[in-house]
Amino acid sequence: MKNKIVAGNWKMNKTFSEAEELLVAVAEGIDDMPLNTEIIICPPFLYLEMAADVSEESKFSVGAQNVSSEKSGAFTGEISAEMIKSAGVDFCIVGHSERRAHFQESDEVLATKVLRLLEKDIVPIFCIGEQLSEREKGEEFKIVENQLTKGLFYLDKDAFERIIIAYEPVWAIGTGLTATPEQAQKMHAHIRQLIEKQYSVEVAYNTYILYGGSCNSKNALELFSCQDVDGGLIGGASLKAEEFIEIINAAETSVKSN
Ligand code: PGA
Repeated sequence: MKNKIVAGNWKMNKTFSEAEELLVAVAEGIDDMPLNTEIIICPPFLYLEMAADVSEESKFSVGAQNVSSEKSGAFTGEISAEMIKSAGVDFCIVGHSERRAHFQESDEVLATKVLRLLEKDIVPIFCIGEQLSEREKGEEFKIVENQLTKGLFYLDKDAFERIIIAYEPVWAIGTGLTATPEQAQKMHAHIRQLIEKQYSVEVAYNTYILYGGSCNSKNALELFSCQDVDGGLIGGASLKAEEFIEIINAAETSVKSN
């Protein structure tokens, strides 16, 4: 089993001082852990520079939660890939279901965002996942395939190899309704098969596919122990240092015990 990635998506939470406190608490908490897990913290834009500063002396990397599909210029309120990179950021979430739903981000816009990030050497963490109504109709595999095809499969092999995928069933996000390990494994294996068909066995094996959706310290080990679950994208449970560190511990344990 390969090493895991645990990414924290803070969403629109924390004031400046609370953000600093949480960053320092996580940094201190993981300081003396012999870590094989890659840790990525994705705070709001405003705190990226501070997070990057703290990360320099710590074992985590920093990611943004969003990026503009435009390069630069007269786009009031937008933040470009170049700006993110200049703040010391190496990762960026793209296509989170909250952005798809509340900000009408289409597959086409998301595909452009992925390109903007790759141009600046930022790793996209590309989110996919079905709604509850789609799962109830048995359409979850088709929906995810469509999101992958439109959002990523136009990339050539070299570009695709730089992508992290996060499978986040929309019905599990922030609801406390986690996918069962069986549901997660089934979808992750399906995603890997699609990558294999599009690229190769090797690319499929090497691609990181994270699970997201009410993942916490209680269910993380079971989820991370699934063969095709390479870690997690953690929302609510990343807002408390202790809880987040327990999830990191679960990632470490899941690799050691396999
Ligand atoms: P949650 O969010 O862990 O709070 O369900 C996950 C996410 O939206 O990335």
